[in-house]
Amino acid sequence: MKTKTALVTGASSGIGRDIAMILSKKGYRIIMVARRENRLLELAEKLPGESRIIAADLSRAEECFELYEKVRGEHIHVLINCAGFGILGEFEQIPLGKELEMLDVNIRAVHILTKLFLADFTAQDSGYILNVASTAGLMPGGPLMASYYASKAYVTNLTIAINQELHSAESRVYVGALCPGPVDTEFNDVANSDFAVSAMSSKKCASIAVRQMFRRKMLIVPGFSNQFFVFAARFLPRRAVIATAEKIQSMKREEQNS
Ligand SMILES: NC(=O)c1ccc[n+]([C@@H]2O[C@H](COP(=O)([O-])OP(=O)(O)OC[C@H]3O[C@@H](n4cnc5c(N)ncnc54)[C@H](OP(=O)(O)O)[C@@H]3O)[C@@H](O)[C@H]2O)c1
Repeated sequence: MKTKTALVTGASSGIGRDIAMILSKKGYRIIMVARRENRLLELAEKLPGESRIIAADLSRAEECFELYEKVRGEHIHVLINCAGFGILGEFEQIPLGKELEMLDVNIRAVHILTKLFLADFTAQDSGYILNVASTAGLMPGGPLMASYYASKAYVTNLTIAINQELHSAESRVYVGALCPGPVDTEFNDVANSDFAVSAMSSKKCASIAVRQMFRRKMLIVPGFSNQFFVFAARFLPRRAVIATAEKIQSMKREEQNS
């Protein structure tokens, strides 16, 4: 029997890196994708099992298609769409080019890869796709991180709709969304922010993510406090929730500037 393969985007750092490690320990062959090839090489040496690295800039649609062409036929059984980043700041102040790059990685790359691999998984009636969104994607909006929150809402909504379509079709293919709250990774360095509230470790987040993915949970929100926050937000007035999100983002900025 062929070894099952897991493809993990964003494997050079943080949550993606830790998910790659966990899946490798579970016996999966890992294909790791990110731009920083040196980081992927370092991780490949640490993984207990077989792996392949592919350096790709997923903000470029053609590199998403090329990635798919490079790996099709490699018995991919798990796809983790984890590559992504955020940008902190007023919508009017964030440079449009940087923001469009973020939308290309957070939305377009996830959309393309989900579409392409889902067709193969459906044909074989097996496979797992985990799209990494955020609790941000479950909020009605996120001032000072407006585009990031909106991008994660896209990922969450897309994913749960596909999950329901697969459920109705009695498919054995799983598509689910991981919606973490703050996680201690390089995310803040990239977003130019700092956490206003305590963050979960990346290892813990990755371990919950993998466990609940294999339990086929549609929406995975790691940690009780995040689950409570998401639950409460459904019942509070929209304006109050958006104002709270704004407060959290402005605290991040103060932390970063202090
Ligand atoms: N940390 C948090 O608090 C948090 C909370 C909720 C959701 N998330 C989500 O979790 C995911 C992983 O983030 P993280 O926290 O682990 O942050 P991270 O440590 O900064 O990792 C981000 C990963 O995305 C990759 N990436 C970014 N742009 C890319 C591009 N153009 N092409 C290919 N790969 C790219 C990076 O690799 P290279 O730079 O090497 O390309 C890196 O491997 C993201 O989708 C993020 O939105 C994070």
